Amino acid sequence: MLQGKVIVVGVCGGIAAYKIADVVSRLKKLQAEVHVIMTQSATEFITPLTLGTLSQNAVAVDMFWQTGDPHIHHIELAQRADLILIAPATANMVGKIANGIADDLLSTTVMAATVPLMLVPSMNVHMYENPIFQENLRKLRGHGYRIIEPASGHLACGDTGKGRLPEVEVIVQEVVDFLTRKQDLIGRRIIVTAGGTREALDPVRFISNRSTGKMGYAVAEAARNRGAEVILISAPTFLPPPAGVQVVSVTSAREMHAAVMEHFPDCDAVIKTAAVADYRPRVPAEQKIKKSDGPLVIELERNPDILYELGQRKNRQVLVGFAAETQDLTEYAREKIEKKNLDFIVANDVTREGAGFGTDTNIVSFIFPDGRVFPLPQMSKAEIADRILDEVVALPAWQRDI
Ligand code: CTP
Repeated sequence: MLQGKVIVVGVCGGIAAYKIADVVSRLKKLQAEVHVIMTQSATEFITPLTLGTLSQNAVAVDMFWQTGDPHIHHIELAQRADLILIAPATANMVGKIANGIADDLLSTTVMAATVPLMLVPSMNVHMYENPIFQENLRKLRGHGYRIIEPASGHLACGDTGKGRLPEVEVIVQEVVDFLTRKQDLIGRRIIVTAGGTREALDPVRFISNRSTGKMGYAVAEAARNRGAEVILISAPTFLPPPAGVQVVSVTSAREMHAAVMEHFPDCDAVIKTAAVADYRPRVPAEQKIKKSDGPLVIELERNPDILYELGQRKNRQVLVGFAAETQDLTEYAREKIEKKNLDFIVANDVTREGAGFGTDTNIVSFIFPDGRVFPLPQMSKAEIADRILDEVVALPAWQRDI
């Protein structure tokens, strides 16, 4: 399953280090080429001899390690590997990486890496929950590091909580999924819009909606993972910009309109996850609006319907719309497909638990122009993003375009 794949396994000094012998052994059984780098403290928990024997490669420990083979050193490995997996990733190692410290062979290898990195943090629950550690983890996520969440349970130190190394099977499966994932969007350019636009009332206030951008960012990341060139046109969100994606930041619907139209002619698909305000204040006040005793009336005027306009202009591009509804989901979604000339729509009822704004999961249905409706169960937004892309690549319009 992993034949031809090169994996660097970085082992840090945590009690879970002994479990990595099993990870290495399983990766070898799947026919990966495995190179282990250990920190000095990891060697207190498990010996280089064990990991060297299992990986069938010399284990590297200190900075000035030499095998006698001039081609195998950390810089070369950091570029040749398909993946660097660090497990267990201690608070110390995460802190070093997040802050650009490279003072041992493993952290130096990471610093020089141009390949994907996957970290499996494992530590005491209080260390794991420490806000500084969490901040470091967020920073790494923002830079595109893949983090496998620790499991909860009884910890070696006697505490109970989150911090256990996930089961070896889980780690190996994550590696296999990552290394065998589809690369079916190479050479394709995809626009993803995300977030809720803001329409200014005055210099300090705006009208917006509850969109957090999570679904759109998940689509952008999934498309990037499958090899697409992604242009993420994003209204304001609190999410870190995904690594390896061109982010165009906009605020209002009209700014989003301009950005989408600029990139549209050269793209293969537009996935319009953004919640675009249909109306904006006709004349935003130049100065802050002062309260008075009577009611305040603000006149709103229509914003351009970006997706409708794309539907009129499209030639080869695939168009995917989103419909967030609170009632009559399918009926409204069907109307939108027809009116906006869409290839399909992703519809969700935002009133259902586990669906809608701000959650990490969603419950959606795909609705097609011929009336087919595919309801999906509750899933993570990342999984839904991949399902959306599966549908895009299955469309006759997409396949004709190759
Ligand atoms: N959309 C757009 N431009 C707008 C409004 C919406 O491109 N001005 C896109 C959204 O990104 C989404 C889809 O159209 O993909 C949503 O359709 P829409 O009919 O606008 O949804 P609602 O605003 O929820 O519709 P309605 O007000 O009719 O319920």
